[in-house]
Order: sequence, then C-alpha cells, then structure tokens
Amino acid sequence: MGLPVAYVTFADPDGHDDERETALAAWAAAGIEGRAVRWDDPAADWAAYEAAVVRSTWDYVERRAEFLAWAHRAAERTRLLNPAPVIERNTDKTYLRDLTAPIVPTHWTETGLPVWDEYVVKPSISAGARDTIRTRDRGEAERHAGMLRAHGRTPMIQPYLDMVEAEGETSLLFFNRRFSHAVRRSAMLAGGATAADNAVSTPRDPAPDQLELAESVLAGVEGDLLYARVDLVRLAGGAPALIELELTEPYLYLSSSPEAPANLARALRELLGQRVELPPSTGMTAPVR
Ligand SMILES: Nc1ncnc2c1ncn2[C@@H]1O[C@H](COP(=O)(O)OP(=O)(O)O)[C@@H](O)[C@H]1O
Ligand SMILES: [Mg+2]
Repeated sequence: MGLPVAYVTFADPDGHDDERETALAAWAAAGIEGRAVRWDDPAADWAAYEAAVVRSTWDYVERRAEFLAWAHRAAERTRLLNPAPVIERNTDKTYLRDLTAPIVPTHWTETGLPVWDEYVVKPSISAGARDTIRTRDRGEAERHAGMLRAHGRTPMIQPYLDMVEAEGETSLLFFNRRFSHAVRRSAMLAGGATAADNAVSTPRDPAPDQLELAESVLAGVEGDLLYARVDLVRLAGGAPALIELELTEPYLYLSSSPEAPANLARALRELLGQRVELPPSTGMTAPVR
C-alpha cells in the first residue's frame, strides 16, 4: 500500500465535522488509508501523504490569505484535492461574475441598487451565511454593503428569492465530476434570522434542468475535482440558477444517500490511480526518429 491520504480538517473542538468518520471508513473499504490532519498544524509533513483532501477547513473564512498560502505550499509537497488554483478561485464568490451559466441576479456595489422587494446582502468571501443580511429596506441594504466595502470586502446584493422557503435550495454532489447524489436544503435566512444552524436537508432527485445546469457549470471549471457541490435555486420565472459553486470545503451530505461514501472513495481511487499511471511505452512524447 502507498502513502496515506490526509483528510484535511481544522481544530474542531465541538466536533462539527460529522462526515469525517464516514469518509475515512469508506476510504478504508476502498483500500485507502486516510488520516485526519489539521491544515494549520505546524508539525504536519504534507510530503508524507499521497494526497491531501481538503475537507472541513471551516475556519478559513477569517484567515483566507493564510489558508491560500498553506494550500499552495502543501500543493508543492503532495497532491492537493481540490487543486490550489481551484481553491484560490473558489473561496471568493466573485468567480460567479465570470461564469456564463445563469446565476442569481447580483449587484456588486452599494451604489445604484435596483429596486427589489427584498434584499440579501453578503460578502463575496463567506461561508454559512456569515455577515449576511436580509432586508426589505433598500437603505439598510446599501449601508450593509457600504460597511462591507469599508472593511475591504466585496459586497454582493441580490433579490431575496422566497422559493428557498418552498422548494428549497438544491445541492448536487459530484465526485470526480460524476453525479453522486442531491439534497434539498432549507432556507438559511428564513424568518429574518441569519442563523444557519437550523437549516435541514433531505434527499432529492434533481430535475433534468438542474442536472444539466450543474453539469454545464462544472464543464467550465478546469482541473481535477474530487468533489464539487453545485447549489441551485430557481428564479421567479422558474429557471434554475447557480447560487454557489462549492469546490473548497463543502459539506457533502454523505448520509443522504447510501452510495455517497463509496462514490467519494471510488472517485479518490480513480484520481490517485491516474497519477501513478505510467505513460504508455509507445507514448506520444517519445522522440520520433
Ligand atoms: N438571494 C438569496 N435569496 C434567498 N436566500 C438566500 C439568498 N442568498 C443566500 N441565501 C440563503 O443564505 C444561504 C447562504 O448563502 P450562500 O450564497 O450560499 O453563501 P455561503 O453558503 O457561502 O454563506 C443560502 O444557502 C440561502 O439559504
Ligand atoms: Mg452556500
């Protein structure tokens, strides 16, 4: 057996990562020895791992520069999944501006806000709806966006989509770009609260238009993607739109589908296998005489 694979996590005194044991057990069943390692553990020797799989690095939001520096450093010593450039791009939601896929309508500055019934204002670097507000008051939306800007952050102002309370957000999980499972997630900003703790999820089969959109979003991303979570909502007219593409440290909803843990392990095996494959002896790179 080769080197172990690092399951990259954070100092998690409250045990928030309840997917770790499930993932490690599935890896073990697939012949992959996984070990939980903190991303910011100064004693971690990343070269001692065949790969490092970024999982529950959930404290990166407040320490993004440090986290990205770590990712690039680790990627010089081991195979980082997802790759460092993917993580760098994906940890700031300004990537949404560059996608050709339909996204939730987003205004990127506090001035000239469109008139919407209700606003969501969030920073482009965030997770778990941190520093995100929902308001009917356009002035309040402007002030929150201006406050984010004053702190050097990029504000995102969107219409509040109340479909998140009925149909809910749909998250599609892909492992090595293959669809694995999907869940319905309940609204995190319902009732005016910004607390995300009571959001719940239930298994869901994606509609064909959701699957198609998710696949086209992923087709636009280069590089190895061990895991990808495509979070979709529906706009007022019913068309699906991307609210977030999670390629860094998404919760994977492994317990929502009996196949999910094995799907993840198989994808990891595939990617590890690709690396050790030797080029065929009649390879194209051989000099032609
Ligand atoms: N425009 C919106 N309309 C309705 N709900 C929203 C909107 N934007 C965000 N939310 C709610 O807030 C949650 C977090 O927002 P999101 O953009 O996914 O950022 P993050 O998950 O990185 O904090 C979403 O899952 C959703 O429940
Ligand atoms: Mg989200």
